[in-house]
Amino acid sequence: MPLFPDLRMRRLRKSPALRSLVRESHLDPGDLVFPLFIVEGKGIKKEIDSMPGIFHFSVDSLAAEIDELARLKVPGVLLFGVVNDKDETGSAALNPEGVVQQAIRVIKKAAPHMIVVTDICLCEYTDHGHCGVVVNGDVDNDSTLPLLAKMAFSHASCGADIVAPSDMMDGRVRAIRQALDGNGFKHIPILSYAAKYASAFYGPFREAAGSAPQFGDRRSYQMDPPNVREALREIEEDINEGADIVMVKPALAYLDVISKARDSFNCPLAAYNVSGEYAMVKAAASRGWIDGKRVTLEILGSIKRAGADVIISYHAKEAAAWLDEQA
Ligand code: PBG
Repeated sequence: MPLFPDLRMRRLRKSPALRSLVRESHLDPGDLVFPLFIVEGKGIKKEIDSMPGIFHFSVDSLAAEIDELARLKVPGVLLFGVVNDKDETGSAALNPEGVVQQAIRVIKKAAPHMIVVTDICLCEYTDHGHCGVVVNGDVDNDSTLPLLAKMAFSHASCGADIVAPSDMMDGRVRAIRQALDGNGFKHIPILSYAAKYASAFYGPFREAAGSAPQFGDRRSYQMDPPNVREALREIEEDINEGADIVMVKPALAYLDVISKARDSFNCPLAAYNVSGEYAMVKAAASRGWIDGKRVTLEILGSIKRAGADVIISYHAKEAAAWLDEQA
């Protein structure tokens, strides 16, 4: 390898055209998935305090948002339901007329090409706010599995394109795969939140989704943040159970996990740029402390560079618009 003065790294940074030629990774609107929070009621579009620019939508208010996402070439949305009637086992998750079930039908009718991904987890539907059934004060793994499988089937029957289990129970991917295969949905992919950490970055989401645990925390099922080898085992487990896409979550504080997962597996990889990551950028930008647009594109670019194929982000809509301006 030549050394300075024969080697001059700056030669290839001289102009936008040169930089473009040697650019190693590219962020594209086609990489992005936009999360949507669906609430009960009519005519609702209400901004979430801790997530400026992100709204609660009632099913009848979704149309304009979906049109805009389609126009910006954002290929997919991820749906979360926010419900009022909660119980011990989260039975509202299985309601054929539930908010997510209705939203899937409405979106697929309005924009048939939009990929509708649905979050499969009970925490938005249980009165205790945990991601599974609670038995003797503990979240019970095995009795939660059939409920998750039924929830996935319910969403698939309404037209969901991809189901995305986020509960972190062991064996849920296999249980969901079997339920889908046995009921006419062999073709529906599973995007598993394979390496999901017990993270403080979910704070704004829990406010938005009303899903904070009412006792204890999620550390007995979500991963311990210092671990990375364990993440690779989680991902391997989910691939072996039949996951089609595996996800690392959160993204920004776990770029090393994304990068290692990329090197270790050939499965498509997703990363979730979560609510707290979004809120930090918005808070600093609103004070003029950072350039929100540049910071956002840099963050999303870092997730891409680390190796994610799919990026789920609350920035998806604005980022797609910015990328379009630059193109
Ligand atoms: C449901 C779920 C959560 C998120 C996605 N699905 C919250 C949690 O596990 O507490 C977090 C998303 C975000 O923070 O943007 N289990």
